[in-house]
Amino acid sequence: MPTRDPARLVVLVSGSGTNLQALLDASADPSYGARVVAVGADRDGIEGLTRADRAGVPTFVREVAQFSSREHWDRALTDTVAAFEPDVVVLAGFMKLVGEEFLGRFGGRVVNTHPALCPSFPGTNGPADALAYGVKVTGATLFVVDDGIDTGPIVAQVVVPVEEADDVETLHERIKSAERAMLVENVGRLAREGFTITDRKVRFGSD
Ligand code: GRF
Repeated sequence: MPTRDPARLVVLVSGSGTNLQALLDASADPSYGARVVAVGADRDGIEGLTRADRAGVPTFVREVAQFSSREHWDRALTDTVAAFEPDVVVLAGFMKLVGEEFLGRFGGRVVNTHPALCPSFPGTNGPADALAYGVKVTGATLFVVDDGIDTGPIVAQVVVPVEEADDVETLHERIKSAERAMLVENVGRLAREGFTITDRKVRFGSD
């Protein structure tokens, strides 16, 4: 996947945006090779949007409820993201599944970070599900989005221990701290080196 230098990132968020912040901080250094050109959300009033404002990055909100159908929402989201001409779209705590139109336009260059070790514990409760299962390690996964739920080709994973005293919050915070570093490192590599996907194997570099 060829990208420009610096690669243009559009980041979609739904919450506190600490992963977004890590990308904003990293891209302040020109040698990172990527910069955040826009931040979008599916809801207003979230810390993620404030972080973008503070960094002087344009923001947009597309709420599902504003549209007559999920398809219309997906089309509006797609058109808005497309206007920023992203090389890579990063879903960083974006709590909506993007649809057919979105993947048709950006498929293969949309990455998502999930707070569990895929293929374990997909969906919106990764840390809670891992805790309830009693696993001794969990972590985070960066993957290329496909039309499943947390099923796409894996770019990188990071492992964190589950401590006996953990509750969902302490476990998720430990995951997020490792997740941010993994995200920054690997989005930077995707941007600087490009990547290929063959039989689900994601490799940095061009052919
Ligand atoms: C991350 O753990 C992400 O993987 C999950 O939600 C969290 C978002 O955190 N889907 P933040 O908004 O980046 O702080």
